[in-house]
Amino acid sequence: MFVRHFVLAFALAVLASGFSSQPGQGDSCIVPGSGGFFNSIAARYDLLNQVISLGFHGSWRTSAINKILPAQSVLDISTGTGDLAISVAANRSIRVVGLDPSPEMLKVARDKVNRFENSIGDIRLVTGVAEALPFDSDSFDAAAVAFGVRNFQDRQKGLNEMSRVLKPNGKWAILELSLTDGDQLLDRATRLFVTGIVPRVASIISGNRKAYEYLSDSMRKFPDEKEFCKMLEAAGLVVESQKRLSPLGMGPFLYSGIKSSDRDN
Ligand SMILES: *[C@@H]1O[C@H](CO)[C@@H](O)[C@H](O)[C@H]1NC(C)=O
Repeated sequence: MFVRHFVLAFALAVLASGFSSQPGQGDSCIVPGSGGFFNSIAARYDLLNQVISLGFHGSWRTSAINKILPAQSVLDISTGTGDLAISVAANRSIRVVGLDPSPEMLKVARDKVNRFENSIGDIRLVTGVAEALPFDSDSFDAAAVAFGVRNFQDRQKGLNEMSRVLKPNGKWAILELSLTDGDQLLDRATRLFVTGIVPRVASIISGNRKAYEYLSDSMRKFPDEKEFCKMLEAAGLVVESQKRLSPLGMGPFLYSGIKSSDRDN
């Protein structure tokens, strides 16, 4: 049980932090969590997610998608290498847009979309930041952010923007990692593992400790459920459900709901 718990925690840690194996590359000038930061890890991002998330990645994504479909138009904010957008586009009648600040991540996404060409609909991939979405108000049936809200430079602004581009009653889902502040032994062990051990191990393996420090820092700084729900509500996003996914109370949080119908953009 302990071993599985730690393995999962490690998977979460790497999944959330991204990974760089280039020692010292731009460590001091790239802002962790920024588009430039993700540019530097794009090439390895998918491979690592696959290897270390132990298959959970896909089922988490499916849970989020189930909250926003059916829909005719879907915006995937912080699409990264495009996995959520591609899953949605499996239904060819859905208009799918993926947005990300990192052109390198989008390049990986584009290659993947081209590879799936015959089995999915087209996806529009757009470079941009969540805080200033280049889309009209009330223009999407649904929107999702998978493991991206932590990296928003201005979280409230990003949520406001997601709300703005959603149609009234439009559906949204957010998947995000956060550290539990529970007091159980497993909670404490997990915290120690993610914040104390992972960065050290990772710095030895990758030669880049920054990425992992960023992960535990950003998980630690992410608001708890109550506070995050307040931010969602402030953005005009009605929270209909919130729960931790996957076993052992260690999975990501899935928040979902609709845009308030009386939200005035
Ligand atoms: C595909 O999406 C359309 C539009 O939202 C929906 O009407 C249809 O039921 C979906 N098809 C499947 C197989 O889910």
